[in-house]
Amino acid sequence: MSTELQSELVQAVKQRRNFAIISHPDAGKTTLTEKLLLYGGAIHEAGAVKARRAQRKATSDWMAMEQQRGISITSTVLQFEYQHCQINLLDTPGHQDFSEDTYRTLAAADNAVMLIDTAKGLEAQTRKLFEVCKMRGIPIFTFINKLDRPGREPLELLDEIEQELGLQTYAVNWPIGMGDRFKGVFDRHKQQIHLFERSAHGSKEARNTIVDLGDAKIEELLEQELYFQLKNDLELLEGVGPELDLDLVHQGKMTPVFFGSAMTNFGVELFLKYFLDYALQPGVHNSSVGEVPPTYPEFSGFVFKLQANMDPKHRDRVAFIRVCTGKFEKDMTVNHARTGKIIRLSRPQKLFAQERESIDVAYAGDVIGLNNPGVFAIGDTIYVGQKLEYEGIPYFSPELFAILRNPNPSKFKQFQKGISELREEGAVQIMYSTDEAKRDPILAAVGQLQFEVVQFRLQNEYGVETQLELLPYSVARWVEGGWEPLNKVGRLFNTTTVKDSMDRPVLLFRNEWNCQQLEQDHPELKLSAVAPVFS
Ligand code: G4P
Repeated sequence: MSTELQSELVQAVKQRRNFAIISHPDAGKTTLTEKLLLYGGAIHEAGAVKARRAQRKATSDWMAMEQQRGISITSTVLQFEYQHCQINLLDTPGHQDFSEDTYRTLAAADNAVMLIDTAKGLEAQTRKLFEVCKMRGIPIFTFINKLDRPGREPLELLDEIEQELGLQTYAVNWPIGMGDRFKGVFDRHKQQIHLFERSAHGSKEARNTIVDLGDAKIEELLEQELYFQLKNDLELLEGVGPELDLDLVHQGKMTPVFFGSAMTNFGVELFLKYFLDYALQPGVHNSSVGEVPPTYPEFSGFVFKLQANMDPKHRDRVAFIRVCTGKFEKDMTVNHARTGKIIRLSRPQKLFAQERESIDVAYAGDVIGLNNPGVFAIGDTIYVGQKLEYEGIPYFSPELFAILRNPNPSKFKQFQKGISELREEGAVQIMYSTDEAKRDPILAAVGQLQFEVVQFRLQNEYGVETQLELLPYSVARWVEGGWEPLNKVGRLFNTTTVKDSMDRPVLLFRNEWNCQQLEQDHPELKLSAVAPVFS
C-alpha cells in the first residue's frame, strides 16, 4: 500500500466519530439532533428538521405520508463537521416509526447517546435500545435533557442509571439550578462555570459566559443560594462518585453524563466537545479472516439496512452500507461476499436528512446509500481484495405477531414471492406454525409500522390484498441448540412453538412472566432473545 493512502486512512479514521441517539419518544431527540447540526454548522437556524417532522405528522393519508417520509421511515444519516471532526449521526426512528431498523442501526454505530428527560428518567424504549447497545458493548454517553423544566434530582437520576442499567456513571458536567432557575452547567474537568442566556426557542447558539470556580465575579453573576448548592453538590460528587475511566467508557461499562437543555441550547456545545474527546473512533470489526482494522487498505463494509421507497413513481431501493475499512470511491467495483458477484457501485448517496447528495469518497465510520436492485440483503458484506465476511446482524426479538392471510388463491404465487422478498429485505420476520396444515405465515415485528409496510407493499408491488390477524403473544425466544434439546423436554405449557424462516424453533409467550416461568421450570433449555443471522 502506498504510504500516501496509509496516512490518508489514518487521518480519516482519527477524524471520524459515529453515533446513534437512543431515547424514548418526546425526550427531545429531534431537538437535540437539530442543535447538534446547528453547532456543527450544518444548519444555520434551528427549526428546519422539526418543521419537516411536523409536516410529516400532519399528513394523514398513507401514500402522502410515505412521500413525506421517504427515507425517514427508516433511519437517515446526518453528517456534519465540528472542530475538524467528521461526525456521522445515525438517526434511529422512534415513535410509530419504531421497527427492527431502529435496532439494526445500532449495529452500525460505534457510540450511542442515551437521551433522558429529566422529569421522566429511564423509559421503556430507552431501556430496550440500551439492551442492544449493551449486547454490542459500545460506549454510551448520557444527556439528561430539559433541565429548564422542573425535574428529578440529578443524583437520583444517576442512581437510577446505575441501579437499573448496571452502568457506572460519571457526571462530566453538573447543572446549576433547575426549571426557571436553570442557569447553566459546571464543567468538572476544567472546573469552570458556564452560564447561558436564553434565546427564543434556542434557534441560534446560546450566549455563554465562562467563569472559573473560584472567580470573584461569580457573586455578581450567580445567586448565592445556587452557588452554595453547586459547591455542596460537587463535594458530594467527589466523595461518592468514581473517577472517569475511559477504558470502562469504551467497554460500555461506565457512562459519562451531561446535563442540559436541548431546547435552550444549554450544555449542548459542551456535550459535543467532550463527546468528540471521549467517543470511540471507528475501530476493528470481526470478520471471517479475524479482526480487520479500519485502516486496512482495501475497501469493505456491510449492509445494515435496506430502504424501499414506497412511492410507485420512484420505486428505488437503497442499501445502507457501513464502511468498515479502506476508502470507498464512486464507481468502484466490489465483490459481494454472499453471492460471489462483482458489482459496480454507481450512484452512491450520502444522506443528509431527506436530501440525497451524491458522494465521491467515504472512509471507515461513514455510511453510504447505494441503489439496490435486489442484490443486497441485511448483513451482506462487500469487499475489495482478499475475501472477507463480517459477522451478520442478529434478528432482534419481535414483540408483535400476526397471521397474514391471502384470501385470493389466484394470487398465491405473488403472495409467496412478496413474502419471501420482504423477508429477505428485513422488512419483517417471518415464522410458521409447526402444524403443516397451517401454512399462513406469521409476521413477527418489533413495531406496528412493520405490519403496515408489509401489507401496503404486498398490495402495491405484488398486487395482493391481505388480511391480518393479530396474535396474543408479546415475547419470542429462540431455543439454543435447535430442535433436539426442545424435543427432549417434552410438552411445554403456556407457550407456542413456531419455526423461523431458517426452520429454527422459536417459543412464543403471551408475556414475560410466562417466559420466566418456563425458564425456571426447564433450566436445561437455553433461550435467547436474539437469533444470529447465519451467513
Ligand atoms: P423526540 O424527537 O425525542 O420525540 O422529541 P422532540 O425533540 O420532538 O421534543 C419533544 C418535545 O419536548 C417538544 O415539545 C420539544 O420542544 C420539547 N423539548 C425538547 N427539548 C427540550 C428542552 O430542553 N426543554 C424543554 N422545556 N422542552 C424540550 P412539543 O411541545 O412537542 O413541540 P414544540 O411545540 O416545542 O415544537
